[in-house]
Amino acid sequence: MACLAQFFYGNYSCNSQYWSLLLFFISFLNQLISSSSSSSTSNSTHKACLRDQSSALLQFKSSITIDEYIAHSNLWSWETNTSCCSWQGVTCNGYGFVIGLDASESGLSGMINSSTSLFKLRRLEKLNLAYNEFSPSSIPTAIIQLHSLTHLNLSSSGFSAQVPIEIYQLTSLVSLDFSFLHGLESPNIEPLSKNMPSLRELRLDGLNASISGWQQLFSSPKLHNLQVLSLSNCQLYGSVMSSSLSSLSSLSVLVLSMNDITHFPIEMFSLPNLQVLDLTANYRLAGSLPEFQSSSALRELVLPRTKFSGTIPSSIGNLKRLTKLDLSQCEFYGSIPFSLWHNLDQLMFLDLGHNNFSGELPSDSLSNLSRLVKLLLWNNSFSGRLPSIKSSSRTITQFHLRCLLSYLH
Ligand SMILES: *[C@@H]1O[C@H](CO)[C@@H](O)[C@H](O)[C@H]1NC(C)=O
Ligand SMILES: *[C@@H]1O[C@H](CO)[C@@H](O)[C@H](O)[C@H]1NC(C)=O
Ligand SMILES: *[C@@H]1O[C@H](CO)[C@@H](O)[C@H](O)[C@H]1NC(C)=O
Ligand SMILES: *[C@@H]1O[C@H](CO)[C@@H](O)[C@H](O)[C@H]1NC(C)=O
Ligand SMILES: *[C@@H]1O[C@H](CO)[C@@H](O)[C@H](O)[C@H]1NC(C)=O
Ligand SMILES: *[C@@H]1O[C@H](CO)[C@@H](O)[C@H](O)[C@H]1NC(C)=O
Ligand SMILES: *[C@@H]1O[C@H](CO)[C@@H](O)[C@H](O)[C@H]1NC(C)=O
Ligand SMILES: *[C@@H]1O[C@H](CO)[C@@H](O)[C@H](O)[C@H]1NC(C)=O
Repeated sequence: MACLAQFFYGNYSCNSQYWSLLLFFISFLNQLISSSSSSSTSNSTHKACLRDQSSALLQFKSSITIDEYIAHSNLWSWETNTSCCSWQGVTCNGYGFVIGLDASESGLSGMINSSTSLFKLRRLEKLNLAYNEFSPSSIPTAIIQLHSLTHLNLSSSGFSAQVPIEIYQLTSLVSLDFSFLHGLESPNIEPLSKNMPSLRELRLDGLNASISGWQQLFSSPKLHNLQVLSLSNCQLYGSVMSSSLSSLSSLSVLVLSMNDITHFPIEMFSLPNLQVLDLTANYRLAGSLPEFQSSSALRELVLPRTKFSGTIPSSIGNLKRLTKLDLSQCEFYGSIPFSLWHNLDQLMFLDLGHNNFSGELPSDSLSNLSRLVKLLLWNNSFSGRLPSIKSSSRTITQFHLRCLLSYLH
């Protein structure tokens, strides 16, 4: 029977002296972050498109290539015989100026440069060119002409070379997404921390270049509006230093996974609005968990594959909003505080695998963890009886339960 588990989980080890528990469930976690789709089809009856706006868009359309197999490309609806304000992905203001353009995932390729007619749309506030292939374009300096821009999204769009310094003059920017632009050369983001007081969201994930000035992001008083900072896999190394935590008081999502950060200030766990903290796979990052306050807003605490160590404080039970806790493949030890099983009733994902946790699991029930869909406790030193799982998630299959019970008794 024990080997049923082996069958199910490949070469997963069933015979270790460690208790290996792995429960896998059918349902997936709901996406917590629902992407805001902005494919707005405007109310054309009340908006006449200005002729120069329409011709700038059509010039843009004719200067690039649309993959004919992309049926959902917004640009297919751009036809001369209709008002541009009714075209898919195009938003106008009441005067017929184009203020929003969403050409993301539209199968576009070709060259974009400062002569591209897009830059004639001077009233643009939101520009999304994500998920296209404009390689080998570099981000044109003409971007500065779009001085009303609040949202700029070039994620995964193939732009390379240098980030033009002009971009830092777009002082109205609220959201900047340059993630997965693998060809960008080492950008210096220090000017950003000085010039963009409105910035709420900054995503630079997967930049294949070292970013200079990234540490300034954490101490710049100018970035007090920053809510989302995502710098996963950005070749960051060294210490996160924060001289004034008050400048980060708005921060709600902080993703620094897959870097080589060696120090993270423990006080940052207590930022008043922090909901998501992800430090995955900073292999040299040592630290220990702080005492948690009941005022904490944390929903996701994700620290696997770091050198975090020590015990889990019983104040973990103060994190009443926690839906995801991943402490796997770290160096934690000691017993799991009762408060974790008892209080964290929003928890959906719990992975404590591959540490050196010991002690007994709660033998009576995990019944308070009624939302749990994934529980991984593999490769630790637990002892005692198996927790009763019968009253928790209905999605636990009988098969998994029987398999677990058979080799743990
Ligand atoms: C267009 O806007 C007008 C007034 O703003 C509204 O009454 C009408 O229902 C809208 N039409 C559509 C198709 O959204
Ligand atoms: C606009 O022209 C296209 C072809 O160029 C045609 O398929 C479409 O039906 C026309 N739309 C209107 C509203 O006339
Ligand atoms: C800009 O790109 C267009 C093609 O979209 C090309 O014809 C033109 O020569 C380019 N201009 C410059 C200055 O590179
Ligand atoms: C950028 O656009 C992509 C594709 O539409 C989307 O998935 C992503 O969330 C956008 N980024 C921001 C910061 O909104
Ligand atoms: C990242 O950059 C390095 C050198 O600059 C290069 O060898 C590597 O192929 C690049 N990776 C990607 C995904 O572009
Ligand atoms: C946890 O379960 C106990 C009974 O076992 C119950 O009294 C308590 O209210 C539950 N706590 C939460 C937070 O649901
Ligand atoms: C795990 O903890 C036990 C004591 O609970 C200790 O004897 C053992 O050396 C630890 N193992 C590792 C790999 O740290
Ligand atoms: C469990 O941990 C031990 C000691 O850290 C390690 O040698 C072993 O490979 C781990 N087992 C699995 C299945 O990861």
